Amino acid sequence: MFGKILSELLEAQYQAVGHPLTIVETGTMYYTTLEAGETTLDARSTFGIAQWIKKTGVKHAFHSVDFYSDHIESCKRALSQNGLDGIVEHHLCENAATALRAFSFSMDFVLLDTAIEPEYTLDEYLAIYQRIRRPGFVVIDDTHVPCGGQIINKGSLAMPFAVNQQKLHVWEIVKEVGTQRGEKCAVIPFGREAENIVQQLPRWFEVTSQLRG
Ligand SMILES: C[S@@+](CC[C@H](N)C(=O)[O-])C[C@H]1O[C@@H](n2cnc3c(N)ncnc32)[C@H](O)[C@@H]1O
Repeated sequence: MFGKILSELLEAQYQAVGHPLTIVETGTMYYTTLEAGETTLDARSTFGIAQWIKKTGVKHAFHSVDFYSDHIESCKRALSQNGLDGIVEHHLCENAATALRAFSFSMDFVLLDTAIEPEYTLDEYLAIYQRIRRPGFVVIDDTHVPCGGQIINKGSLAMPFAVNQQKLHVWEIVKEVGTQRGEKCAVIPFGREAENIVQQLPRWFEVTSQLRG
């Protein structure tokens, strides 16, 4: 479902702006084994976004950043086996936030999905939030993942930053509606038009909370 959420957002954003998007993700898809109930890898971010780009027939820019070369290679193999070569520009880095700071371009859509420690996501967010074009989106994955009696929340520092310092709304969305796990990601819209896009998303976007700026 995560890939579907990302593609739905990208499609609505593309319809709104009408020009090719610059998309960046930190944390490349590396786990390429299908899980129970899956028939394709399109729930994984890199795959889902690449598949959406191919469907549009438009040359969107898609940069994927990771610090582990084996993960990049297994992602490349999976993309290639599924006819999705040449869509993703992979960046091997020492640290995603540093790589983001070295990018000189503005961005329309950024997915942050690296380490579970929230400090990393905050650092990545700080690296890009002033370069998001309107209407733009930052998505943070794994903002609510039950794990061994605890809850992982990669966005526990970046989300309050967006709410308190930037006065942005942060939308938390259940990734797999109907399952017991209730895993969530966060969507942070930049600009009024992006805000409207989130509000008009299909019903399977179960928005559980809206943290107000
Ligand atoms: C959760 S996985 C990404 C999953 C992917 N977005 C998907 O939906 O399939 C996290 C990835 O982040 C990478 N990673 C973790 N910490 C990182 C860091 N500080 N800088 C760059 N990459 C990092 C790992 O090597 C791993 O490939």
